[in-house]
Amino acid sequence: RIVYVNGAYLPEEEATVSVFDRGFLMADGVYEVTSVLGGKLVDFDGHAARLARSLAELDMVQPISHEALLAAHRELVARNGIEEGLVYLQITRGNPGDRDFAFPDPETTTGTVVMFTQNKPGLADSPAAKVGMKVISIPDLRWRRRDIKTVQLLYPSMGKMAAKAEGADDAWFVEDGKVTEGTSNNAYIVKNGRIITRELSQDILHGITRAAVLRFAAEAQMEVEERSFTIDEAKEADEAFVTSATAFVMPVVEIDGAKIGAGTPGRVAARLREIYLEESL
Ligand code: PDD
Repeated sequence: RIVYVNGAYLPEEEATVSVFDRGFLMADGVYEVTSVLGGKLVDFDGHAARLARSLAELDMVQPISHEALLAAHRELVARNGIEEGLVYLQITRGNPGDRDFAFPDPETTTGTVVMFTQNKPGLADSPAAKVGMKVISIPDLRWRRRDIKTVQLLYPSMGKMAAKAEGADDAWFVEDGKVTEGTSNNAYIVKNGRIITRELSQDILHGITRAAVLRFAAEAQMEVEERSFTIDEAKEADEAFVTSATAFVMPVVEIDGAKIGAGTPGRVAARLREIYLEESL
């Protein structure tokens, strides 16, 4: 596999980053995941816009232009022959010096830019989407700026492991009694045909897939309500699902062991997944 590091395209074995890089030492970096369907990037502009915002919120200078970023994404997709899969992009604050809690001088530091692809044949036609996911709920112990897509993913990883230990697929985070989001996706329920998902704030990541799905839902005359909901309300819902760049629209059929609706993927989720894939292909 060919990967990208600071302007160079290299075989993955030859790609290196400094041990002093703040991304490595302090999780001082941001990332984006853009899916690839039919060899094409899905919603690249949305991901690039969120990247720019994440960097700005952390006082990081974007070390690569929008055009160069797009060109590199396309180059990697072509070189690695990706038809279905994703492009991962990470930008860290780099670091020319010793470990220090203070940020290095932005004038003399260029961030580290890394990109790689993951080949995922069958991503769109995923069997998991026909079965649906089981989720558990756990407290949301992440920091309070979840709108910034940082590489601080230890707690979400622990959530995923907790889910697996219970025979589930993923975890939904709960804070002040309300669901925030999934470990790596936005969370939704459907009640009486109405789609309910938490409103945008610093509490959740502003999903690019979320924005697209809510737009498609409105175009299809579906009712959408942006507000938070509890786990109990979710358990009583007719359907539940999550969205992300890699899961698209993924039904949730069980929460903390309780079946949602009939315990099978719901019609609204299935319809939204269909529309999303049609629009993205
Ligand atoms: N995760 N919420 C969180 C916490 C996420 O990590 C993600 C994405 C989302 C969905 O955002 P989007 O629709 O823009 O992908 C919501 C990516 C896919 C990941 O970490 O792999």
